[in-house]
Amino acid sequence: AKSTTEPPVPQPASVESQTHRFSIQPLHRFKGASASIKRPREVAHFSFDDKHEYLHDESGLNYYIPPPIGADLKEGFDAFRHYEDKEDAHLDAMLKALVDTEKRNGESARVRADFVTWRGMMTKILTAPFDNFAEFGMFATFYDGTIYIEEDFPSRAAERAAEANQPPPKYHHPDQQPREMMTYWGYKFETLALIPTPPASTAPKEIENYQRSVVSNHAQHCSIVNTSFGPHSLILGGEVDGLLAPKPKDPDTPVQWVELKTSEELPARQQHRDILKFERKLLKFWAQSFLLGVPKITVGFRSKAGILRGLQTFNTHELPGMVRRGTNCWDGNVCINFATEFLGWLKERIMEEGVYSIVLQKKSGVVEVKKIKEGTGGIVSEEFLAWRQKKD
Ligand code: A3P
Ligand code: MG
Ligand code: MG
Repeated sequence: AKSTTEPPVPQPASVESQTHRFSIQPLHRFKGASASIKRPREVAHFSFDDKHEYLHDESGLNYYIPPPIGADLKEGFDAFRHYEDKEDAHLDAMLKALVDTEKRNGESARVRADFVTWRGMMTKILTAPFDNFAEFGMFATFYDGTIYIEEDFPSRAAERAAEANQPPPKYHHPDQQPREMMTYWGYKFETLALIPTPPASTAPKEIENYQRSVVSNHAQHCSIVNTSFGPHSLILGGEVDGLLAPKPKDPDTPVQWVELKTSEELPARQQHRDILKFERKLLKFWAQSFLLGVPKITVGFRSKAGILRGLQTFNTHELPGMVRRGTNCWDGNVCINFATEFLGWLKERIMEEGVYSIVLQKKSGVVEVKKIKEGTGGIVSEEFLAWRQKKD
């Protein structure tokens, strides 16, 4: 037998990487005037067609028309063409649009930023301080001076599958609708409120035909903007619902986007808890629209059973003030200052190549960041890497 007195073989330095933690609380650190924000400017756009295939054009653009009050948002449910990502789409469509824009407009179209991500990821970060149930999982990679952030798609897909497998509740209100219906009527509302041609040049008969079409969420139009939080610049991509006026030719003129939302109508005699529930929802509406520079949000109020009862349009920039004077359940400045601090903190921890996880576990109040492997994890597409390497 081998002698046990042999000195231990020296182990290589641990490859296990360190976990960095950013605590969201206490929030008083983020109070006061907000960090300066650059108004988002569109730098690129793309559409998905009716098969959810990428197109570098404006074919997915829609215009707002007032939907008919009294419409049943459940109508047509059986024919719903519901698109859900089955494979990890990473940042591919957005990066493709950036490449296509550079190919079309030349070198001057290239925009550099500290961060590139989907608007949805920034919405999760921005709203985390005022959502006690906030949780997220993201992956990030560092490439050529920029941090690219995507959703942890495998975990999200597993969660969705688990939710779908839950048995329906045994006891429920007669108006209670299945989860899939709650998803459907948001899209039905959009179908009633959006048409692909400017309303002024569309015949009433045509408008009716559009409103009657089969509800599908395959087609989309996405806007990619350049914005900044304090010293941190970002490129954000996200779906935009519709236009209130044709898109201006001048890129410095704000685009009259409108975000459409449905929400349960408030009871005639409102209790504090009804208002609180609605104002909490406004946090998500505000964050989502604010990030892409969407100036208006039109809410379709529906009954419990899904009948459209009324419409109200909010100015995105007025929502924080409205809530401050109302239930005061969230503070937009705190959200912005938190996000600014957090982005600066991320910049100092994601400075070399590799794949990093960014995780906020429900109710933990602490975001954890660590390097999990080498490479780029497919976060930056091959097409994008090839294009950038060719140019440099
Ligand atoms: P509502 O927001 O009116 O419920 P968006 O508002 O972001 O444009 O999304 C349009 C619709 O997609 C939503 O309408 C909802 O029906 C559906 N939807 C969006 N995100 C969802 C989610 N996380 N879970 C279920 N449905 C969702
Ligand atoms: Mg939308
Ligand atoms: Mg919407």
